[in-house]
Amino acid sequence: MENKKYYITTPIYYPSGNFHVGTCYCTIVADAIARYKRLRGYDVFFMTGTDEHGQKVERKAKEANKSPKEYVDNIVADVKELWKILGISYDKYIRTTDEDHKAIVQKIFKKLYEKGDIYLDSYEGLYCTPCESFWTETQLVDGKCPDCHRDVELVREESYFFRLSKYQDRLLKYYEEHKEFLEPEIRKNEMLKSFFEKGLEDLCVSRTTIDWGIKVPFDPKHVVYVWLDALTNYITGLGYLTENDEKFKKYWPADLHLVGKEIFRFHAIIWPAILMALDLPLPKKVYGHGWLVVNGNKISKSFNNYKDPRVYINKTSVDSLRYFLLKEVTMGSDGNFSEDIFIERCNSDLSNDLGNLVSRVTAMIEKYNNGVLQNDNCKEAVDDELIENSLKLVQSVEKLMDDLRINEALIEIWKVISSANKYIDLTMPWILAKEGKKERLNTVLYNLIETIRIVTITLRSYMVEIPQKIFEQLNVPSELTSWESAKTFGKMKNGTIVKKGDNLFPRIEKKEGIFDVEEEKKETVEVKKEEPKKEQKQVDEKGYITIDELSNVELKVGQIKEVERVENADKLYKLSVDVGEENLRTIVSGIVPYYTKEELLNKQIVVVTNLKPAKLRGIVSQGMLLAAGETEVVKLLTLDGETGIIENGTRIH
Ligand code: ME8
Repeated sequence: MENKKYYITTPIYYPSGNFHVGTCYCTIVADAIARYKRLRGYDVFFMTGTDEHGQKVERKAKEANKSPKEYVDNIVADVKELWKILGISYDKYIRTTDEDHKAIVQKIFKKLYEKGDIYLDSYEGLYCTPCESFWTETQLVDGKCPDCHRDVELVREESYFFRLSKYQDRLLKYYEEHKEFLEPEIRKNEMLKSFFEKGLEDLCVSRTTIDWGIKVPFDPKHVVYVWLDALTNYITGLGYLTENDEKFKKYWPADLHLVGKEIFRFHAIIWPAILMALDLPLPKKVYGHGWLVVNGNKISKSFNNYKDPRVYINKTSVDSLRYFLLKEVTMGSDGNFSEDIFIERCNSDLSNDLGNLVSRVTAMIEKYNNGVLQNDNCKEAVDDELIENSLKLVQSVEKLMDDLRINEALIEIWKVISSANKYIDLTMPWILAKEGKKERLNTVLYNLIETIRIVTITLRSYMVEIPQKIFEQLNVPSELTSWESAKTFGKMKNGTIVKKGDNLFPRIEKKEGIFDVEEEKKETVEVKKEEPKKEQKQVDEKGYITIDELSNVELKVGQIKEVERVENADKLYKLSVDVGEENLRTIVSGIVPYYTKEELLNKQIVVVTNLKPAKLRGIVSQGMLLAAGETEVVKLLTLDGETGIIENGTRIH
């Protein structure tokens, strides 16, 4: 009998506040696969998470004047919110700072040490901190990290090593015997060439110059190298080496590790070798997908060519962005992210093809048959092609999805959508209505509804809101939304009431700067407007307000304790302000052009403390600073004289 479990993972992401469409790509692909497998009846376990240790995080936290844990906690909250917006249906979110993960990594380290696969030696090498990778001189490109092109540092220290070299032959044999293990083929060949030709070297798996990490249990001046800590998440997240290891027993080995191409080698060489050393079975497949690029450059923080995916979602919809990423990138290859093409796809594929199909068909049923679905079985030859295309769709999508050819599956779905639109043009229901051919008209409309139902079932893997909206308009009972039900044409019942709903994909006007990061300006204005609106209602004819009305606004003395730039926003600072409460308040303010961080630090200012919290660029702002300026905040209202004379949190009357 077929084993119906499916364990799929994404990489665990470095905690950075700058998740862009590139970083989201892998998770959206994994989510589409997880949804597809669930539709097929698999018991799916989908895990994602964050990789929170290491020097990079330690440095960033220091820059932000925070402890590493505080720093990562904030980011993780934001990442989880983004995954929610994107409809990522993960079953577990693992953090490498989770206590159980840390304890298991220590057990793994000890186990490998006791087995002799980890030993103590000393290390001298070139290290790229942003990539957390060691390189040899010959691997550098122009003296810089070959992945991110940044400087590397010479590191010299006592270290523990993992005997990677010992596993070279077993790995090669495994690749040879399991052709499906590493995909796509081209990536596997690149890797074999660049790493195995020179021979594998043992891997340094501990550092003594970093504090922020998991301590080696029997030698705590060492912390575990971040990649060993990170890769093992795939088994620690299932409870490996704990009493609660039912998930591990059920789901391991993973069916699919989906990773970006630059971290393919870690998953194709180091991870399988660690698993071999632990005597564990290897994952069934590691797939190295390509990058989203803009004009040939990887979208990334360091290239400064990224935007928050929320910008695109706000202007379109979550399903528009998901569709675009899944359709435009050929699995395994790089894909160009062009805003112009994104708009074109939104308008042509989504608005014209799919949106119009649904709205035309539902509108015609309302107009010609009072919204009642009625199959009068008045068939004609032209119906056969549409019915056959719909019936073949599920089969071809299954085949393509099982082969991870996601964009091709979407192409097949759109072929059926196009054939349904063509069917309308050929059958011309409006002429049938005019000529009083009621039975034929009803049959045509019924065939179209069934086609839309089947198409929508297949869309459930890729889109998270639209399928439900379509099912509601078509009034499809839940049992007819299942994968199995898409294999039969003609399941909708006569008498079903169909109702045209809102436009599923409003057209996007292609105008200059539509996706410019203007959000913060708009949102700042909205927040500022909120208070006067309330006040306006209460002013009398002379424009006076009463003292009671004034006291509705709670003003307090606050002191700016921390200042941070909001990533990807030209004008915004994220301030932590002491208003005499137990915790500092976070206030986002558009004053970057007028104040430096140093000028702001420790300033005592006036804060509106009872303003409804508002979200700016994903950060909840819990108040507002009072400031002067016609249209923009130019000068903050500050307290006269030395700070500290008036206590923070004092009311202002
Ligand atoms: O590498 N296009 O984390 P990470 C497509 N913590 N994918 C992209 C991309 C782009 N423009 N930019 C980034 C790490 N990614 C480690 C993983 S797993 C045990 C540890 C992808 O946050 C990238 O390819 O730097 C990678 O797969 C993922 O984002 C996480 O990258």
